[in-house]
Amino acid sequence: MPPRVFIAPGRVNLIGEHLDYNDGFVLPCAIEFSTRAAVAPRTDQKLVLRSAEFPEQFEFDLTNLPQKPLGKWSDYVLGVAIMLRQEGHLPHGANLLVHGEVPIGAGLSSSAAIEVATALALLSLSGARLPLPKIAKLCQRAENEFVGARVGIMDQFVSCLGKAGHALLLDCRSLHFQLVPLPEQVKLVICNTMVKHELSGGEYNRRREECEEGVRILSKSTPGIKALRDVTPQQLSSSAKTMPPVIYKRCLHVVEEIQRVLQAVDCLRSGDLDQMGRLMSASHRSLRDLYEVSCGELDAMVEAADGLPGYYGGRMTGGGFGGCTINLVVSEHSEAFRESIAERYRQRTGISPEIYVCSSAAGAHVELKTAAV
Ligand code: GLA
Repeated sequence: MPPRVFIAPGRVNLIGEHLDYNDGFVLPCAIEFSTRAAVAPRTDQKLVLRSAEFPEQFEFDLTNLPQKPLGKWSDYVLGVAIMLRQEGHLPHGANLLVHGEVPIGAGLSSSAAIEVATALALLSLSGARLPLPKIAKLCQRAENEFVGARVGIMDQFVSCLGKAGHALLLDCRSLHFQLVPLPEQVKLVICNTMVKHELSGGEYNRRREECEEGVRILSKSTPGIKALRDVTPQQLSSSAKTMPPVIYKRCLHVVEEIQRVLQAVDCLRSGDLDQMGRLMSASHRSLRDLYEVSCGELDAMVEAADGLPGYYGGRMTGGGFGGCTINLVVSEHSEAFRESIAERYRQRTGISPEIYVCSSAAGAHVELKTAAV
């Protein structure tokens, strides 16, 4: 049987940051950078992993998979293999070759892309047909339970279910989603600060704990609150005095950002891109000042976009502490925007950024070409 190739994209989030683990709404798009996984079955119980980007080859015994992450790229594959094994979906060994083009550590979900591509590849061997939302959850569990990053569902979900030309509005509580068409006259310009971010690092998990603390405090005065999703702006402001200031700021970001996502969807539907841009810029300020997950370079990149022709608005995207900004830019201005923002950012920071002019892309699928494994 010739090896089959599965492809899963990275993502950029238009708006709705740090909301997925608060049961809120997010509005990501799949992007044209993706990870491919070529797979061939083995008759033994070995899982043999190679990457086109890294020199090492890994060999694991499916009956005795590591319990702890090794701190290597293989962790994402291993995590998925462990979850599939637990569910009885990986009865035999496999050779897997991974090739990733999503920039690593740039906040564009290279990890979700490798997880989802791996899951589709390994599932194809057993012939099990799992619904894509279930695959997304399995990949999230791999990252939560094996890799050790308490990420939400956004990245894996949009990597599975994104659609070209659309953003995906996801209700992270029910996992109901709607595809929202993106206006054809705009490009998604993604600006990489070149500062690497680390999700398994403490700050991401700390934000989650701070939100949980907020829920604990708020549920004393408003019983029935399960997540910050359930809190109205009025309830939050009337409880402000009962909360440590830092917890209040985190909660305020979440509660207001949820409103912004819903307004952003209306803006995209009605074509009000000026207001969409303002919402994105407001989201950035909130992430910088209230949620405190931005950094000097992200702020410099957002400021560098100010006033450039064709620019509607922009913000940091993803977990923060480095990575990329997302900018909504009129298509015909996008090339000039790319050059000007790169120059301005270089002048302000001394760092040469990478700028990607993107459109939203399709979610995970099998690639029709074959490859040698
Ligand atoms: C990372 C996580 C996501 C989400 C974002 C912040 O990308 O993987 O689950 O929490 O950060 O919105």
